[in-house]
Amino acid sequence: LHKDISKLRIVRVEEIVEECKTMKSIFFKDELLSKAEAGQFAMVWLPNYNEMPMSISYISNSTVAITVKPVGRGTNALFNLRKGELIGVRGPYGNPFSLKSNSLIIGGGIGLAPLMLLAERLRKTGNSTIILAGKGKEELPFIERAKKIKDFEVVFVTEDGSIGFKGLAVEAALSILKNKRFGIIYTCGPEIMMRKMYNLSKELNLEFEASLERYMKCGFGICGSCAIGKYLVCRDGPVFKKFMLSEVENEFGIFTRDSSGKIVRF
Ligand SMILES: Cc1cc2nc3c(=O)[nH]c(=O)nc-3n(C[C@H](O)[C@H](O)[C@H](O)COP(=O)(O)OP(=O)(O)OC[C@H]3O[C@@H](n4cnc5c(N)ncnc54)[C@H](O)[C@@H]3O)c2cc1C
Ligand code: FES
Repeated sequence: LHKDISKLRIVRVEEIVEECKTMKSIFFKDELLSKAEAGQFAMVWLPNYNEMPMSISYISNSTVAITVKPVGRGTNALFNLRKGELIGVRGPYGNPFSLKSNSLIIGGGIGLAPLMLLAERLRKTGNSTIILAGKGKEELPFIERAKKIKDFEVVFVTEDGSIGFKGLAVEAALSILKNKRFGIIYTCGPEIMMRKMYNLSKELNLEFEASLERYMKCGFGICGSCAIGKYLVCRDGPVFKKFMLSEVENEFGIFTRDSSGKIVRF
């Protein structure tokens, strides 16, 4: 199976959905990616660009989607794709989120991509909350989609107050945690936010899983560019459990690596 998932498949873009001003979802058919679990990612290829890791953000039968936020050359090219154009995909790669009920899901910006799939898969378990956080409404994806996750309490948070709670994701989480008891926190987004949630999970003795982002080249444990401590994000993550993060506490939320592999501060 590993050989199959690592083979590049050329797929046709079937639909493009604008999730907010700065993010679009690209829908296409791929049997192997449609078997992905929430938290796994694809390596996405466009001619003349480096391959990019992209979380699977939707799965419905054999149709899947990735959601892209332009930050550089490759992501801008993906953002400007049109229906009918071709891209290359490999995967699914990486370890997924566990599927535990009674969860607090907290995501910032593009970090919400894998978390929406997670919430949809958890929807029948009840007593869960999802926090969708962004700078402002125009940078907050999945607003309408989130409202349809019926078994979840849905909380929007924006720094400028343009929708939902005005403030930071962690502040909203703190106020929710005062009144509600959860078993696990799931998070993806800016690593400084995830580190704060990790510290909180230790204080409150909750389980914790975070999806980390590092510069990736191969996507399956060969090149070493995605190292954090003794772990490789592509092979051992991108979802890290609490005990793993406790082993890389001196890096998690503090240091990352640039494209040449050099360790740099966040
Ligand atoms: C597991 C995982 C899942 C991801 N899921 C998504 C997603 O769902 N949607 C989304 O928009 N983005 C996602 N990303 C980030 C995305 O892969 C990078 O933004 C993208 O590769 C940047 O390519 P570029 O050519 O546009 O940027 P560049 O011009 O190469 O660089 C711009 C910035 O992106 C960082 N970056 C560049 N290449 C990579 C790379 N291969 N891996 C990680 N960081 C990189 C650089 O450090 C730099 O800060 C994910 C990353 C990882 C590791
Ligand atoms: S991306 Fe090459 S080892 Fe992780």
